[in-house]
Amino acid sequence: MDKANPYHIGIIMDGNGRWAEERGLSRSRGHRAGANTLKKLCQHVVDLEIPYLSVFAFSTENFKRAKTEVQYLMNLFVELFKKELDFLIEDGVKVVFSGKREPLPPRVLKAMDEIVQKTSSNTKCVFNVCLNYGGKSEIVDMTKNVVQKVQNGELSLEDIDEEVIDANLYQPLPPIDLVIRTSGELRISNFMLWQSAYAEFYFPKKYFPDFGPEDLDIAIEEFRKRNRRFGGVKK
Ligand code: FPP
Repeated sequence: MDKANPYHIGIIMDGNGRWAEERGLSRSRGHRAGANTLKKLCQHVVDLEIPYLSVFAFSTENFKRAKTEVQYLMNLFVELFKKELDFLIEDGVKVVFSGKREPLPPRVLKAMDEIVQKTSSNTKCVFNVCLNYGGKSEIVDMTKNVVQKVQNGELSLEDIDEEVIDANLYQPLPPIDLVIRTSGELRISNFMLWQSAYAEFYFPKKYFPDFGPEDLDIAIEEFRKRNRRFGGVKK
């Protein structure tokens, strides 16, 4: 039995829309409720002394949604990064982002840059927000970085190994131990593909707004029962 807590948790925050629709509310209300849940989960991760939390906030494909929903989400991100996540600063959390900057609106980029800057010297926990993110795009962008370094003579072909790949992704992060996807969908949907290579997966049926700290405890308990072999044989 693996007794250790996960070192890095990834959450695909799915089901905000369905949570709202089932209550006769607008999808925006679902995202607002999801944001409140995320705040509680972040606080809980800090309290549990889990050093890395990654969340899927917005995929590159999410730009295909209705303009009003995209706009609402962008405003919500600004609001959260500007003030609602202030407790992270005091709690020693370092905020980083994974994803492409283009075509995020300048006000969102500004709020992102500010929270990164304000929290850059924190060391207690890293909160990685995947925003305008796609796992395959990350691998494409990493490949371009590495090829560029080979072309510049900074790196030789023989030097390329898993550590080099890790160091050239959007953020230098340890592997994800536990991926949680709420809402009952059994898919990874392009979330942190390289980092999740040996992750354990947990798929609770609850929609994200209903997934509270006590549910995270249950997910961690389940993780601790799993027999992780990493391709080997457990003694
Ligand atoms: C997926 O549910 C959720 C999103 C696309 C947005 C997630 C955003 C938040 C929880 C807001 C706070 C985030 C941060 C990082 C500041 P869905 O809309 O796909 O739900 P559905 O599948 O039921 O339609």
